[in-house]
Amino acid sequence: MKPMLADDAALDLAADLLRQGRLVAFPTETVYGLGADASNAEAVGRIFAAKGRPADHPLIVHIADASCLTDWAETVPEAAWLLAGHFWPGPLAMILKKQPQVPDAVTGGQPTVGLRVPNHPVALSLLRKFGGGIAAPSANRFCRISPTTAQHVEEELGDSVDLILDGGPCEVGVESTIIDLSGAQPRLLRPGRITRQQIEALLGVPLAVAAKSDEALDIRAPGLLAVHYAPSTTALLCRTDELSATLAELNAQGRRVGLIAYHSASRQPHLEHILYMPEAAHDYAQALYAALREMDNRQLDMIVVEQPPEGDAWQAVNDRLRKATVPASTVFG
Ligand code: TXA
Ligand code: MG
Repeated sequence: MKPMLADDAALDLAADLLRQGRLVAFPTETVYGLGADASNAEAVGRIFAAKGRPADHPLIVHIADASCLTDWAETVPEAAWLLAGHFWPGPLAMILKKQPQVPDAVTGGQPTVGLRVPNHPVALSLLRKFGGGIAAPSANRFCRISPTTAQHVEEELGDSVDLILDGGPCEVGVESTIIDLSGAQPRLLRPGRITRQQIEALLGVPLAVAAKSDEALDIRAPGLLAVHYAPSTTALLCRTDELSATLAELNAQGRRVGLIAYHSASRQPHLEHILYMPEAAHDYAQALYAALREMDNRQLDMIVVEQPPEGDAWQAVNDRLRKATVPASTVFG
């Protein structure tokens, strides 16, 4: 399946395919999604088959605007309207108590539903033409890196999708921030471009942060599982001051290594496989998955990722890096 330029005719075709219960991959500002009619349980079932994803993992329903919230959510707390008004369309998904008619296939049998208005012209046109909610996880196979270009989707899903709409590279590059508003206190389930501080400033309350040790939560939000987002090549996360020693050690072991470098001062001219990442957090995030995918495709023995800075703007990047890598110190002590 070759990606199709997302012009008006392609969007009409895509909306028709969704109505027929078929799968359409489409761009959002975060990552590409694998979409199906969210009100059609059979169509949603095809998403799980195409991804190889366990059926109890819930999907985010994409909607055209905040007025659609009440079609899917039974109760919409004031905080949800506030967040929607401020951040939608945009890279924020909200978990709310679901309406009874939302298929179990979408929610993984849970009493809640994830909702988001994406900020991408192709996604928004598709939503308007289709006229309903589109359930869409990231358009990658289960436990693989999310796609940020139409070509990545083609690599991941090949012919198991009925149409791939090409809307160019994604601007944000990491998945949306997820906030759970279904309980007594708002909880941050997944960091993204919209930071915890931005949400706290708007809501005026601190967010509970989902603990990694909370197993029940891991099942509810597989984005929290350590195995998520990983390249198939082992990746080491390495502080700048550990970098030279780590690379020397790997070289001595005769391993073929690729480096995803942050500081240009970390230039390793002797290395054949090296990618230099942008210095600004948002640019880094946008480039991250393509860099991991590129190194993964080179069939190396190991990928070394130089640790970028900490700090608010880096939350999403550091979260994804922690999940995609193991610390260099666990390998070399
Ligand atoms: O940026 C994004 O959110 C992208 C684009 C395509 O919109 N989508 C995405 O979907 O990342 P996915 O399925 O790869 O990740 C959705 C996350 C999962 O970790 C899932 O467990 C969580 O959202 N989720 C969805 N519904 C949920 C619910 N009712 N309760 C708890 N977590 C939920
Ligand atoms: Mg995903």
